[in-house]
Amino acid sequence: MTADAQAAFASYQAESLEAIAGALSEDALEAVRVEFLGKKRGRLKDLQSLLGQATPEERPVLGKVFNEVRSEVESALEARQSELAVPEVAVAAVDVTLPGPRPVVGRRHPITRTMDDFKDIVGRMGFSVATGPELEDDHHNFVALNIPPVHPARDPLENFYLATASVGRADGDAAVLMRSQTSTVQIRVMEQTAPPLRIVSLGRCYRPDTIDATHHCMFHQMEGLVVDEGITMADLKTVLKHFATAFLGDDVEVRFRPSFFPFTEPSVEVDVLWRDRWLELGGAGMVDPNVFGEVGYDPERVTGFAFGLGIERFCMMRYQITDIRRFFENDVRFLTQF
Ligand code: FA5
Repeated sequence: MTADAQAAFASYQAESLEAIAGALSEDALEAVRVEFLGKKRGRLKDLQSLLGQATPEERPVLGKVFNEVRSEVESALEARQSELAVPEVAVAAVDVTLPGPRPVVGRRHPITRTMDDFKDIVGRMGFSVATGPELEDDHHNFVALNIPPVHPARDPLENFYLATASVGRADGDAAVLMRSQTSTVQIRVMEQTAPPLRIVSLGRCYRPDTIDATHHCMFHQMEGLVVDEGITMADLKTVLKHFATAFLGDDVEVRFRPSFFPFTEPSVEVDVLWRDRWLELGGAGMVDPNVFGEVGYDPERVTGFAFGLGIERFCMMRYQITDIRRFFENDVRFLTQF
């Protein structure tokens, strides 16, 4: 009797474990549970009846085996239940019809980010954005900006000329160069638009400067121009201070130094204190009446201020970049930090 009962236990154990492992869904597993462990008609009841037929001496031994087999089958069933439950939860959580996450295929260059931030700040101050060509003529780069035909700023060693035949002569208008400053856009805008004006223009400038940590032969400037009745130097200083603190933080120290530009009078240089030294960020001043005369504005009626800020310099200060050359090396280890 004991041997028959033990064989029945063993085959129950083997068959139930195989059925549990082979159940591929929760419904199939439930059917296995009912078959092997069901309280009413399950095969466990048959084993229990074998126990009932055992002699009082055999019963403790068989009872122990019965309990061990039952608890092993119950544990296997529970384990399989949780295995089958996992994919269902995962399927519920993933909606394959939703668009996937946007792949990271690139980043904005720090200079582009800075220019976007600049536009955002000045946009809040009512400036609109104007554009102009990088390849300029002598008139817009020099003449209209009150830079006379013979002036050191026109020197071929100071500019990237593409056609130099007439440089330095009174008919120098024919010269073509990569613009050396964004002030050219002031002229183009004033030629096209009557005052009042409040514009900025952001873009590349080119100068054959010696390249070092703070100078490059290609760099970016933001030009600003405000023209209206009653504009004063106080307006200029307020706008530039507000701009510098909006971009660099409230604790930044801004200084205005007397300077000279042919197209502004008076003129200033704008410096910011950086790493315990003053760094020049741009030039500015009140628009020279001669410039207004060139574009047909009445200097008796309107006044204005203009500024030209070095975008790389601001970006370097904000992101603690110590060498301007990093911007143009296209080293992804540098670029992915922004
Ligand atoms: C000008 O270019 C004037 N057009 C600015 C201006 C506009 C004055 C309107 C008055 C009215 P400047 O040459 O100082 O000025 O250049 C302005 C800024 O451009 C500099 O302060 C500096 O921040 C940046 N800059 C000039 N040269 C370089 C260079 N080689 N590399 C990087 N940044 C430069």
